[in-house]
Amino acid sequence: MTDLTLRTRIYGLLDRTSQRYGARRLRVLEILMILIGISSVGAGTVEGLAPTALAAAASVTGFVAIVFFIEYLARIWVAPENPLFHALTDARSRLRWVMTAGGVIDLVAVIPALAVASGGARLGAESASVFVLLWVLKLARHTPGVGLITRVFHNERSPLVAAAALFVMVLFSAATIAHWLEGERQPEHFGSIPSSLWWAVVTLTTTGYGDVVPLTPMGRVIGGLVMLCGICVMALVAGILATGFAAEVRRREFVRIWDLVACVPFFAEVGAVAISDIVVRLRTRSYPADTTVIRKGAAGDSMFFIVTGEVEVRIGERKTALRDGDFFGEMALLDRKPRSADVVTLTPCTVLVLDVADFYQLAGQQPTLIAAIETEAKRRRSNNHSTNT
Ligand code: CMP
Repeated sequence: MTDLTLRTRIYGLLDRTSQRYGARRLRVLEILMILIGISSVGAGTVEGLAPTALAAAASVTGFVAIVFFIEYLARIWVAPENPLFHALTDARSRLRWVMTAGGVIDLVAVIPALAVASGGARLGAESASVFVLLWVLKLARHTPGVGLITRVFHNERSPLVAAAALFVMVLFSAATIAHWLEGERQPEHFGSIPSSLWWAVVTLTTTGYGDVVPLTPMGRVIGGLVMLCGICVMALVAGILATGFAAEVRRREFVRIWDLVACVPFFAEVGAVAISDIVVRLRTRSYPADTTVIRKGAAGDSMFFIVTGEVEVRIGERKTALRDGDFFGEMALLDRKPRSADVVTLTPCTVLVLDVADFYQLAGQQPTLIAAIETEAKRRRSNNHSTNT
């Protein structure tokens, strides 16, 4: 029983998706260990380092490798706690975890530890340098952007393959033409198509080491054309990736805002088509407690829907609390007048923001939605009016 509790607690700490304090601290510690490990391996390859410094670097490398080995064993032990494997026996869930992408990366990262264990406490600096590559893989797992990059490459694979095909076509054409034009004058560099490929790659990527250069006038003309083609291909690849990134970020933002819109009951009666129309116009914003979101008398440029948190509407002595699901800031947009009250957050708040231009466009496309906002604004106005009189 005690064992099971301990296992559950350790799983909670090692869970990479957990946002709990302990789990987050452990992730930071792991990143630090990886960086220390990479630095110590790097230090071990520096020539002329004092033997004591070399020994210290090797010990740190060994220590980091052993810590990762212990972490790997711990992850295998706690695998049955993973909700994904609850239907499986302990042994099967462990086996399943070992075969996941995360399990394979962790196994690859502990290979150095196995090398340390089998080769004694210290390894040669050069053989240890391979650890860097393995630990960089582990570091990649802690970078949320890596998932985004992988997704973009996957989404854009067909235009990227087309660009790569174009690159290869230009590369071989350039190498062949350079071989015809320069082969006789520089047989050592252009004597065959394969040997001309080096010049073609260096020129096409516009790297230009300058170790091989065309000498004939026509060879130089071809060199110039290949450089221009290289710039075009690189621009094409950059364009494909940039649009791919923008589309993927927009898609992710859409899903995130869609989830938040579902938390606002005001949108509950609106159909899915209308919601998708609204979602693309909303932005999320977070405020800490005690922040003035709207100042009385200021120009109204947006309205807000509260996803979580509580705000207070202040008109003189009168105070009205608004919370999850309520909206505010609509009056200035409807009346085209300055803000009628101060609105201050009482707790940390997450809100969805609708800008004025989108508000008016939405008024044309979703009249029932705007009518519901108008009805509430009318009620608020008459409340404020009766308080004033
Ligand atoms: P706006 O005038 O743009 O900026 C201040 C906001 O406070 C206002 O829109 C309303 O959204 C909100 N507000 C004003 N009076 C009331 C009220 N009586 N009850 C709730 N909210 C109000």
